[in-house]
Amino acid sequence: MTLPTPPHPYLDSGLSLQTRLEDLLSRMTLAEKVGQMLQLDARGDLDDLVAGKLVGSLLHASPERIRDAEALVAGTRLRIPLLMADDCIHGHSFWPGATIFPTQLAMAGSWDPTLLERGARVTAVEVAATGLHWTFSPVLCIARDPRWGRVDETFGEDPFLIGELGAAMIRGYQGQGLDDPTAVLATAKHFAGYSETQGGRDASEADLSPRKLRSWFLPPFERAVDAGCRTFMLGYQSIDGVPITANSWLLNDVLKGEWGFTGTLVTDWDNVGRMVWEQKVCADDVEAATVAVNAGNDFVMTTPQFFDAAQEAVRQGRLLEHQIDDAVRRILTLKFELGLFDGARRQDDAALAVIGTEAHAAVNLETARRSLVLLRNDGTLPLDAPRGDAASVIAVIGPNADDQHAQLGDWAGASGQIPWLPDGHPRHLTSTVLDGLRDQAPEDWTITHARGADIGEEILDPAGEVLQDGQPRPKIFIPAARDQALIDEAVEAATQADWAVVVLGDMVALTGEHKSTATLELQGGQAALLDAVVDTGTPVILVLIQSKPSVLPPSAERVAAIVEAFNPGMQGGRAIAELLLGAIEPSGRLPISFPRHAGQLPVYYNAVRGQHGDRYVDLTQEPLFAFGEGLSYTTLEYSNLRLESDVVPLGGTVRATVTVTNSGARPAVETVQAYVADLVTSATWAHRELKAFTQVPVDAGTSVDVSIDVPVDACTIVDATGRRVVEPGAFALLVGHSSKDADLLTATFGVTPQASPTVLAEPS
Ligand code: NOJ
Repeated sequence: MTLPTPPHPYLDSGLSLQTRLEDLLSRMTLAEKVGQMLQLDARGDLDDLVAGKLVGSLLHASPERIRDAEALVAGTRLRIPLLMADDCIHGHSFWPGATIFPTQLAMAGSWDPTLLERGARVTAVEVAATGLHWTFSPVLCIARDPRWGRVDETFGEDPFLIGELGAAMIRGYQGQGLDDPTAVLATAKHFAGYSETQGGRDASEADLSPRKLRSWFLPPFERAVDAGCRTFMLGYQSIDGVPITANSWLLNDVLKGEWGFTGTLVTDWDNVGRMVWEQKVCADDVEAATVAVNAGNDFVMTTPQFFDAAQEAVRQGRLLEHQIDDAVRRILTLKFELGLFDGARRQDDAALAVIGTEAHAAVNLETARRSLVLLRNDGTLPLDAPRGDAASVIAVIGPNADDQHAQLGDWAGASGQIPWLPDGHPRHLTSTVLDGLRDQAPEDWTITHARGADIGEEILDPAGEVLQDGQPRPKIFIPAARDQALIDEAVEAATQADWAVVVLGDMVALTGEHKSTATLELQGGQAALLDAVVDTGTPVILVLIQSKPSVLPPSAERVAAIVEAFNPGMQGGRAIAELLLGAIEPSGRLPISFPRHAGQLPVYYNAVRGQHGDRYVDLTQEPLFAFGEGLSYTTLEYSNLRLESDVVPLGGTVRATVTVTNSGARPAVETVQAYVADLVTSATWAHRELKAFTQVPVDAGTSVDVSIDVPVDACTIVDATGRRVVEPGAFALLVGHSSKDADLLTATFGVTPQASPTVLAEPS
């Protein structure tokens, strides 16, 4: 093997990126180029991956394997550095002791882009120190069906909120630019429409017209391009019979053409192979490689046979080498920009001191505090004073009261994707609700604990242990039976207590890829437990630690308070305890609707106007809790919504002011939400859409005037031909506390008419 002897131009950091790139490309064989397009699983045979497949990128590398892989590259002909990637989607998921934040869905409850940007920065600093360069985050999928197993990975149901929070995380990850040694590549995923499942089933055909895509599913991704996101990952879905990996319209015409994306694409897991063995739209791997490259893909994730197949496609003339060159240019550009050819970003023991620092834990705690959503409170919360003369007793009950894995959620430690953390992150780094109450309650209070119920367990699928591609077949879930002994113990604890904090929800076995659920009910013995504890008459505070909204049992109607935490991360237990004890004010808002019954699905606030009213004959269509809902410990009133002008020209801005008054005794941080309804549209359209939100502190006994600006260019619909347009005419601005009618004040305004509607985007 001929080793490069400097000064080869591509190794000379004094030359321009372009010169270095073209020099390197000119030296590469076809095999070396195709190898660069591979992103393979680092848990395989590293020698074969690096020396045999000449792989360009690895994912899921353990701390040791990151170093081993680097060492192996030093022995290759051109020593092209690897791009190391992983799913660090709410913290550095699989690095022992890293800072694990609330999941995306939980964080979205904060409605605070600045806070999420700070969290993503923390993650980037930790990730970059470990020799990884790329995180597969954020997820910009729209969650409309909570049966889907990956709702926890999303920011919820609203395209605008998703876009704002996603852009914030992209800024946080990518920092000041790729030459910043603490920046990591962000990934907008899963492009596009993967979450539009059928029946909540993972990776099913997505029933999406181009108009529906443009209306709701594409805007968050366009926002990611504007935010400078350097990589996009595809999903698993097909649309109208076309697997996303083959969807040249979406990848080439829309993403790269209309939006001008110049970054790098990565498929999802074996998308290229699956076109042959699972979706059966390609006869063989050569055809699949041809289709994938023609559609504009760059990195091919975990389809090792692409190595031979793509070379064969070139030999047969089905692909042209310059097509491979184009993909490799995009890949190498990232490597040059990250400084990988110049020895930057190697794993280094000294740099590892940034993992899990106190400063990072502080950002995590703030994120957890701001993410919690108080959904109901009869005045029992906060528990800031003893109920009687004696010191208070809190019974902490439920399977998720002291379970670090449920609290961290998917993609963290022992969540199942990697083998090197079988017990998860060190236990002491996670504060569970039980830990939190023990630490935060006044010293003379007593905290008791009873598990009360089990949720269930995973077992091997009787259909067999492996799938056709050799991957392990996902396990199936068996709910636990009601356990009377556990319930009796919990009832006894509740009876002896002043309050029962009952922590229910789901577990990682019910969350994630391949883990959609047919039901949304609390699984196992949990409903029976809640019934029994509520029947004791002790006031119950129901805390939900779960990956997605669940359907609550009737006894939840009789609890004193409900707190939605989703998966609140390492600091979650402390944050929940602080909230229950009144040390902090609740400020979170639901980023997703909370159905009453799985039969209502899909349920989301921005549904399109239809006919025949708003209810089933046996049930309302209204969710139990709506998008944007969330209480504080005080009383907030909205009044005097006024517009600077009620006629606004195209291109102008609707300027509104509303007064928010805190008539209670405690301070609040209020999220003022502004929705727009286009009153008459040329095609059916959503009842209302979120267009702006802002957060303001409102001290007890004070009023604040809050200004809201909505650009008229945002008051769009997608018309029947698929064009995004502003249609002049009458609109309503709805401002208030949540998406519900009862929470909103209305002001109407007109957009000055013109001869024809203003077209903001033409379909390609
Ligand atoms: C498949 C998942 O769909 C995707 O989100 C993830 O980034 C990749 N696997 C890599 O783990």
